[in-house]
Amino acid sequence: MIIALTGFMGCGKSSVASILAGNMGCFYFDLDDTIEMEEGRSIPEIFAEDGEGAFRAMELEYLDRIISDYEDFPTTMILSLGGGTVMTPQCAELIRKNATCVYLKASVAQLVENLNIVGVENRPLLSGSENLEDKVKSMLQAREATYEKCADIILPIDGLSPTEIAERIEQEL
Ligand code: S3P
Repeated sequence: MIIALTGFMGCGKSSVASILAGNMGCFYFDLDDTIEMEEGRSIPEIFAEDGEGAFRAMELEYLDRIISDYEDFPTTMILSLGGGTVMTPQCAELIRKNATCVYLKASVAQLVENLNIVGVENRPLLSGSENLEDKVKSMLQAREATYEKCADIILPIDGLSPTEIAERIEQEL
C-alpha cells in the first residue's frame, strides 16, 4: 500500500509523512528530496536553470520510478508529494491508480502562518511574491479542486500539529 500526501506548500506534508512512517513502522519517500538527490541540485536551482516545465517532467519521471520500484515491496510506504505534483495529469493518474491519497486541507490563513515560520526561500513559486497571502490565495483557488479530486481522504488540518495530523490519518485509514 502506498499512502500519498498532497496539499499546498506549507501544509506540512513532509513532517507529517515522517511522523506517520515512524508511527506505522514503515518507510517514507519525499518526492522533492528524491529529485534533489538524484539531480544533485536544489529545487530553486532546477527552476532557475531549467524552468518549471523541466521540474514537472522530473516529478513525473521520479514518481513513476518510485511507484514501479515499490510494486513488489511487501510493506506500506508513505510518499510525500510536492505541492504541485498532482497538477500534472499523468502524476494525478499514477497516484489515483497506485496510492491512497490524503489531502491535507488548510486555509489560506493557516498556510501563510506556516510559510512565515518555515520560510519560502526554497519555494521558487512563492519566493518572489510581493504579497504572500494574495499569492497563496490565488494559487490555492486554482489548485483546490484538483487536490480534492485526487484525494481518497480529505483532512482539514487547521490548528492541528503534525503529530495530531498523523494520528488523524491513521484513524481515517
Ligand atoms: C511546488 C511545491 C514544492 C516543490 C516545488 C513546487 C508547488 O514542494 O515541489 O517548489 O508547485 O506547489 P512543497 O509542497 O513540499 O513545498
